[in-house]
Amino acid sequence: MQLKTIDLSPRIGTEFLADADDLLSGAHSDQIREVLGERGLVLFREVDMDDRQQVAFARTLGDIIDQGVDNIYKVTLDKSITATADYLLGTFLWHIDGTTDAIPSRASLLSARVLSETGGQTEWANTYAAYEDLPQEEKDLVDRLRVVHSVETISRLANPDFTEEDVADWRTRSVRTHPLVWTHASGRKSLVLGSTATQVEGMEDEESKALLEHLLEFATQTQYVYQHHWHVGDLVIWDNTGTMHRVVPYSAESGRMMHRTTLVGEEPLV
Ligand SMILES: [Fe+2]
Repeated sequence: MQLKTIDLSPRIGTEFLADADDLLSGAHSDQIREVLGERGLVLFREVDMDDRQQVAFARTLGDIIDQGVDNIYKVTLDKSITATADYLLGTFLWHIDGTTDAIPSRASLLSARVLSETGGQTEWANTYAAYEDLPQEEKDLVDRLRVVHSVETISRLANPDFTEEDVADWRTRSVRTHPLVWTHASGRKSLVLGSTATQVEGMEDEESKALLEHLLEFATQTQYVYQHHWHVGDLVIWDNTGTMHRVVPYSAESGRMMHRTTLVGEEPLV
């Protein structure tokens, strides 16, 4: 039996009406994967899964990345819990996860454990829909461009008070060049943008900067974006190959805590 769904907005996001048992049964994984690919993001309100259940549910959808403790990465700005918390300041800016990896992750599951009193809403933008709506002459241009992505670029933007030591650290991370338009195995196309985008290959700095800014602005117009106001126990899965995301800034002292499980990438970015 198909689970009931409600679209969250015309161009992105679908809520599933389901409880934890429905999801853990694995009986609906094909439907969930299909809707995820079509709609960019799926939401399960207040399903209240614990870590073990979240990981078990993730495994019904694909292979999972070995990260954090027992496949749960704790998204918090508290460095005593997550040593790499400084990198998470970059999550305040639009990005796709893993643009400096050979194959970006397929999807992530994120559940809300502790909320911030202010900020902390997460936003996703549908990069398939944005590409679809580009004027034909812009499609013709972006179809043949390639873009360098780096951790240094997003980190400089996210940490305005950076030191030389920080820069040296960021430069140890990989830099990767990808097509600006991802042609998926399905034949559909999506834009590959975000704050890791450093430079359009072969383009003058100013022209490159202007084009990347223009495309980011275009792709994050309200009709492509869904903003989620979290309740504790909510679980969201986003298709990392067809969306960008960011979080509304919150303070390190807020105690905000999200638990993330990530599905291994399944298709190269070509
Ligand atoms: Fe992210």
